[in-house]
Amino acid sequence: MHSRPAALALPSRLAALFPILFLGLVALLTASFIAPKAHAADATPATTHTLIIDTDPGADDVIALLFAMASPEQLKIQALTTVAGNVPLSKTSRNARLAREWAKRPDIAIYAGAPRPLLRTPIYAADIHGSEGITGVKVHEPSQPLAEGNAVDYLIRTLRAAPEKSVTLAMLGPETNLALALTQAPDITRGLRELVLMGGAHFNGGNITPTAEFNVFADPHAAEIVLKSGVPITMLPLDLTHKVLTSPERIAKLRGLGNQAGRTVADILDAYVQHDMQYYGLPGGPVHDATVVAYLLQPSLFKGRKVNVEVDSREGLGFGQTVVDWYGGLKKPANVNWIAEGDAQGFFDLLTQRISRLP
Ligand code: BDR
Ligand code: CA
Repeated sequence: MHSRPAALALPSRLAALFPILFLGLVALLTASFIAPKAHAADATPATTHTLIIDTDPGADDVIALLFAMASPEQLKIQALTTVAGNVPLSKTSRNARLAREWAKRPDIAIYAGAPRPLLRTPIYAADIHGSEGITGVKVHEPSQPLAEGNAVDYLIRTLRAAPEKSVTLAMLGPETNLALALTQAPDITRGLRELVLMGGAHFNGGNITPTAEFNVFADPHAAEIVLKSGVPITMLPLDLTHKVLTSPERIAKLRGLGNQAGRTVADILDAYVQHDMQYYGLPGGPVHDATVVAYLLQPSLFKGRKVNVEVDSREGLGFGQTVVDWYGGLKKPANVNWIAEGDAQGFFDLLTQRISRLP
């Protein structure tokens, strides 16, 4: 028997395949209607970091720490390092240990660092974070102690031993620890991949003076050293954080997760947002430091511009101001990726999804 000419064979093969293609299409459409939708927060490809978090907890720091510790597949946390800031060092260190206990992450070492800024008189923010440094919840002395040794030594030791450009440092408080480490051991920049820090203000104006944001104002000389380090820097300033605000619904979702961590975060926020809502007339409160963790996990939620940023450390009205050359008029090299916009709902979806994983 002669085989059919090739030109005729193809359409008839397609005809034979038609029922299979049709059934496949029906199955696909049905699945897309009945299958649970992947959470928006899971949609983007995951970024990963070998991470150290330097922090001064601080109500929003505690939320940032819980958020980060709930994301172990993306954030390989090497240690937490603490610094004086929102409250004195003994309390910021105790609060970091509380966050570790609440997240059930005894594997993460915590090193205490600088008890005061480099040069200026210490300032604290107990009016915002309460005298214990965490709003809305009872504090206690956690059983797991701090690690032996100082945070500055830990940073030098770890960054020296790290492969080139391998470690991300998230900074949620005054930048004293890294400034001390860079001064003693400038070679440690080699081990750093990126600094991601909450700090500064430009379009928004300051929150501790009309021109300055708290973390930079609390140690402007340290911020100067860090900004001049040559390490790639992303800053999440008040320009961003005052646009990523809580709402009663967003807090209710966290409270309704059904776990203790969700209730704790909601209790902290309910108390923490009151001051800023009243003072700035905002419809909700910022969760400053937690935006750093969201940026590490899902940078596509944010938009920034690479700009030159310097710190004013002269006595006067501009003390602690971040001077941002947004239009590039100074023709100086860009040293910061300055984040000015963010997807607020995307941020709260991601935060809520990650907090739901904790005990
Ligand atoms: C920053 O200052 C601190 O009070 C917060 O923890 C945050 O890091 C906001 O200006
Ligand atoms: Ca902080």
